[in-house]
Amino acid sequence: MTATPLVVLENVNKHFGELHVLRDINLSVNAGEVVVIIGPSGSGKSTLCRTINRLETIDSGRILVNGQPLPAEGRALARLRSDVGMVFQSFNLFSHMTVLENITLGPTKVLKIPRAQATLRGLELLERVRIADQAHKYPAQLSGGQQQRVAIARALAMNPKVLLFDEPTSALDPEMVQEVLDVMTDLAREGMTMIVVTHEMGFARRAADRVVFMADGQIVEENTPNEFFTNPRTDRARDFLSKILTH
Ligand SMILES: Nc1ncnc2c1ncn2[C@@H]1O[C@H](COP(=O)(O)OP(=O)(O)O)[C@@H](O)[C@H]1O
Ligand SMILES: [Mg+2]
Repeated sequence: MTATPLVVLENVNKHFGELHVLRDINLSVNAGEVVVIIGPSGSGKSTLCRTINRLETIDSGRILVNGQPLPAEGRALARLRSDVGMVFQSFNLFSHMTVLENITLGPTKVLKIPRAQATLRGLELLERVRIADQAHKYPAQLSGGQQQRVAIARALAMNPKVLLFDEPTSALDPEMVQEVLDVMTDLAREGMTMIVVTHEMGFARRAADRVVFMADGQIVEENTPNEFFTNPRTDRARDFLSKILTH
């Protein structure tokens, strides 16, 4: 099998005023690959994710999704946004809509899929994230872990080519973290292309093909999880790992 790069970042730079938040980022993610991004707070992980689906612009360099440069605006941008799904720390569900309505909104409004078909698919996806019985509830009636699984189903409903996760379990009570990681692990096994910012090192070891370590807006180290965790090459990575693995 030849590796197909699905997401490519070439010499990407971004500033927030004086702050050089992304420094010459080069990253290529193949179809079916799971890349976990880790690094200290403020290192630019969220900004990196946000540039990939164009929630943030870049100053220089190129980002390609499926071989196409990121469109600036208009219909092409809407299409890109449906190719690149995103799951945030805060679930961002619409509180006045049921779980099922949250999931069918994008497919019916953006993809113009008939309601009956979108509903069937929505129910299938809820099954997949193991909350089929919650379809007609409102987000506030669900636990945090259930809400985050709805957010994952909502992202999947757009048939994305790649899913970005930005600390999807950081806002959850500890007992709900695993149920969300289990769903993500299923997706990884099924071949979904995923870029995941997380502090869950167990997930990284289990599900990642590659770990990318960022510090100060740079990719400092990239390796297989096994190599990275047992044999980090840089002082920055060693220091970071000693802080997160010992508490
Ligand atoms: N919209 C913004 N305006 C100005 N500075 C920002 C903005 N978003 C993030 N930053 C800064 O950019 C740096 C990287 O932030 P972020 O990408 O959120 O890092 P991480 O996700 O790794 O914690 C931080 O110093 C943060 O304060
Ligand atoms: Mg962040």
